[in-house]
Amino acid sequence: MRRVAVCPGSFDPVTRGHLDIITRASKLFDKVIVLISINAGKAKPSFTATERMLMIEAVTRNLDNVVIDVLDGLLADYVRDVGAIAIVKGLRAVSDFEYEFQMALANKKLYAGAETVFLTTASENMYLSSSVVKQIAYFGGDISHFVPEEILEDIKKRLVK
Ligand code: PNS
Repeated sequence: MRRVAVCPGSFDPVTRGHLDIITRASKLFDKVIVLISINAGKAKPSFTATERMLMIEAVTRNLDNVVIDVLDGLLADYVRDVGAIAIVKGLRAVSDFEYEFQMALANKKLYAGAETVFLTTASENMYLSSSVVKQIAYFGGDISHFVPEEILEDIKKRLVK
């Protein structure tokens, strides 16, 4: 049986923290679907879904069992439809926990056939988020430690004010 996992997120833009989680998930499952999803609680994204997809494609090229998809709907429905057994998310700090726990329980209620699996973020990525990257980039700060090299220039081009 092929064990499929879905790794959902806004990825606006993908960071080194995301890439670490995707890479580690790719070692645990036969196939990982990185799913660009809509977080209705967040402001309008800075990058279009296609731009985010191209960036993720560029940084996951060496991961043979990783594919990318875009979702405009409920994660639980998608997970059921593709037959995935897990939703993989990174946990940075206690501050992430309540929100992630809430989503994991809601998703389990909507579709009981998959488990949410949390991977602890690598210590060097503890403070990292797409919004931190965006703020630093906007004011011309150095984001090279935060985003994969392949997409550094694309991000700067778009975000530096
Ligand atoms: O990277 P984020 O913004 O923390 O990811 C949150 C995301 C996109 C995974 C979440 O908002 C989501 O699953 N959106 C899809 C719509 C959905 O199923 N919402 C209910 C989740 S309980």
